[in-house]
Parts: sequence; C-alpha cells; structure tokens
Amino acid sequence: MLADGMEIEASTAAPADAGADTIVYGVFAGEDAGPPALAALVASGEAKRTVGTVTHTHDDGLRLLLVGLGPREDFDAETARVAATNAAKRAVGLGARALCWAVPAGFDARSVGALVEGTVLASYRFDRYRTPDDDEPESTLESLTVCTERDQSEAVARASVIAHAVNAARVLQDTPANDMTPTDLAERARAIAAEHKCLTVSVEGRDQIEARGMGAFAAVAQGSAQEPALITLHYEGPKASGPVLGFVGKAVTFDSGGISIKPSASMEEMKFDMSGGAAVLEAVAAIASLELPVKLVAVLGATENLLSDRSVKPGDVVRTMNGLTVEINNTDAEGRLVLADCLQHAINEGAERLVDLATLTGAIITALGSTYAGLLSNDDPWAEQVAEAGAATGELVWRLPLHAEYKKAVKGDYADLNNAPARGKAGAITAAEFLARFAGATPWAHLDIAGTAWDLGRPYAETGGSGFGVRLLVELASNSG
Ligand code: BES
Ligand code: MN
Ligand code: ZN
Repeated sequence: MLADGMEIEASTAAPADAGADTIVYGVFAGEDAGPPALAALVASGEAKRTVGTVTHTHDDGLRLLLVGLGPREDFDAETARVAATNAAKRAVGLGARALCWAVPAGFDARSVGALVEGTVLASYRFDRYRTPDDDEPESTLESLTVCTERDQSEAVARASVIAHAVNAARVLQDTPANDMTPTDLAERARAIAAEHKCLTVSVEGRDQIEARGMGAFAAVAQGSAQEPALITLHYEGPKASGPVLGFVGKAVTFDSGGISIKPSASMEEMKFDMSGGAAVLEAVAAIASLELPVKLVAVLGATENLLSDRSVKPGDVVRTMNGLTVEINNTDAEGRLVLADCLQHAINEGAERLVDLATLTGAIITALGSTYAGLLSNDDPWAEQVAEAGAATGELVWRLPLHAEYKKAVKGDYADLNNAPARGKAGAITAAEFLARFAGATPWAHLDIAGTAWDLGRPYAETGGSGFGVRLLVELASNSG
C-alpha cells in the first residue's frame, strides 16, 4: 500500500525482522521499555515515558526510538496520532528511511490506524514551488511497517488510504489560487472519478449555473473572469444501503471579499477558502477507494470572489434556485450564497442527509479557535452522528444553537433574506440560520471549519492546509447504512 510515496504495511512478525533502519517503541508510563538498550535509558532517567517525549539510541546497527505514551488510562487515538507524528519527525531528522512501529499490546484498530495517520501526515511536504537543494536533499520516509501482536492489516490499509486523502486535500488547499482555480478543482474531480468505476462526475460552468437558476452562486461568480464550476459527484458503493448522503463543500478558490473588500493583512490566506470543497472531494476519493457500501452525492461550489466592473454590488437582490430572494448587503458573505444553491442542488440530486463544510465565518474562530469546528444542525440525531464521527477521528466539532430569534436576523428588508446581519452578534449562528433555509426539511449539519481548515496547530498539521473534515466524512460514511 503506497501513501505519498511511502510503502505502508502491517506485520505480525518481530520488529527486528521488518528490515527497518529505525524501530519505534511506544511505551506507556510505568511500563517496560522494549529492548534492553531503551530499558536502560528509562532506568537511568534519560528516557521519559510522558506524552510528547522521544528518546533515541543505537543498538546492533539499528536506530531505536522510545516514544512516551503517558498513562494507559489517559490514552486515546489522538495520543497515538501525535506520538506517531513526533516519532516520524525525529526519525526523519536522524535520516531514517525505513521505519517500523513496535506497537505495544492493547492498541485497538483505531489507535493502530492513528499511528499510520500520524506518520503519513507528519511526512507531508508542499514543495511544488521550491527549488530543490541538490547538496542537502530532504530525507523522507520510504516505508512504514506496523508490527502488532494480532493482525491489523485492515486497520493499517484503511488508515493509509484516509491519510493519503487528507494529504491530497492539503495539496489542493496549499496550492495558491493562481494554480487552484475552479477549473483546476474540476480537473482534480475528474481525475478522481476516472480512477473509480462507482464514481461519476459532472462539471457545469457559468452558463449552466445561471440556467439552473442558481442566482446566488452566479452572483458571486460574476465578478471574476475565471469560469466557476458546479462540481457534482455521484457514488454508489457495492451493496449500498442507508440514506443517500449529501456532502457539500464551499470551494471559493480566492475570497477577496468582492466590492466589500477585505483588509489586505492576511488576505493571502483566502486561497484556503476552498477548504470545505477540498475535504469533500478527497473524502469522496477515499470512500470510493475503500468501496464503502453507501450512496453519496457530493457537490462543490467553486468560484472566485473578486471585484470588477461586473461584480455583484452591496444592495443587489438575487434569486436563489429554491425561489427565495436575497439582498446582498455584504459581498464578503459570499460563502452562504454559494452554499444556498449548492444545498438545494444536492437535495435535487437525491441527498437525504446533508453535511456541508465551509470556511464560513471569522466569528467561529473567535468562538472556538482551532480546537473545535462549529456544528449547526436542524436535526438532533444527525448532529449526534456527525459529532460522534468527529470525536472518533479527532476532528472535533462543537454544536452551537439555532433559534427563532437568530433566524430573525437573516430576514431581508427588500427581499426574503439578507446575507449579512449586524456585525458582531452571533455571526457563525446567523450564517447557519441563512443556510438552514435551503436545507428545508432534510436533516442537515453545517460544519464551519474557518478555524480548523488551516494552521490547525496540531503536531501533524501545524501550519498550512490541515485537510480538516476528510477523516470525519469518511468515518460518517463508514457508520452510515
Ligand atoms: N471566507 C470568509 C470567512 C473567513 C474569515 C474564514 C477569516 C477564515 C478566516 C467568509 O467568506 C467571510 O468573509 N465571512 C464574513 C461574513 C460577514 C461579512 C457577515 C466574516 O466572517 O467576516
Ligand atoms: Mn467572504
Ligand atoms: Zn469566504
């Protein structure tokens, strides 16, 4: 199994037989530390078993790493993910090429998978635009062998598909807007669909978006010379059952704010405004690779939000595909306009359970920082399922309320709705209240990932695109049906 050029396999053989140059021993607080060379370091106090510590030594021509796992009772999959990240970073720093994880007894499938994820995510580099240094080439891990007592090959294979998908989403995110236009995203969608026979894709441009009556999406797109793309994917896995899932991603490939232009400080970060779409797209790729038995429709609304003589203007009123009219009081609240029409489109295409992922509001960053994404939903059981998927994968989400009083804020003065209620009051919630009007009666969960999509600050995704949402969506699809 290859992930990002890394050969990944599971083994029940002894770590010493893996042919690795470096063996990692994960050790819980107070427990024995594997081979004598490491046990001696623990005994002398040089090696610690607390979370976050890595100690290395050499023995018999091999590099040995001891990674602290902390107390067994506090251990979870996220601890494993972080431990694997720390180990991989140290190993690469020491010039390791072939890594073997000697997994301690008691690791469940999820924690074994998290070791794979941590290793693959830690190995992510975005160097498309860097001139390579021929004198000091960057070292990379070529292989990972995960040695466990019981067979964990399924967990290892699954995790490497998922981790690969996360890194693929990060590439889409990190690529600057001049090389990641709506057309480029559509290209990637076509390439993914071409790899899987259960997956079909359609890409529609400006004319078709207008012809469908997607007046809100079209209004955002009208200011840019770049052709927008409505990307629709259909997946039906073998023996599919359960409700048709609908994944919708905001894919604004650059958000300048439009006529309501953003301040220039950090505006370059707005290349990441397609992160929801990137996560949806690569999650679908992983779901298809894993041949999960679900039916799924995925929709990406891809466009730039720019200023020009053709741009939508503050005060303009547009008609969405579901018939509601919107007065656009702030052209920088473009995400909800794109999503409004995409949610309706997903429903038209058969979606029975909706999840949308969007870098929708600065307000969610104020509320939750980078620790949790915001979850807003019109359906308690569905919200619960989404939150559980996040808890299981370490992509945490925290639910915020909808309420009739917030709903008032999105009523328009000249149209049914306005897209930008008074600043500074429940901005993440009122954005969701707007979207709720387009989900209608379909169970829907909105994930505001503005705080988690990039610069996540976790050891396996410190800066740049994080691929947030890919793991959650694959987990959600795995538990559906
Ligand atoms: N893409 C932004 C939200 C965003 C801001 C994401 C900062 C990540 C970091 C979105 O399109 C936006 O501009 N939202 C506005 C809405 C407001 C005008 C009602 C916001 O949050 O300020
Ligand atoms: Mn905006
Ligand atoms: Zn935006």
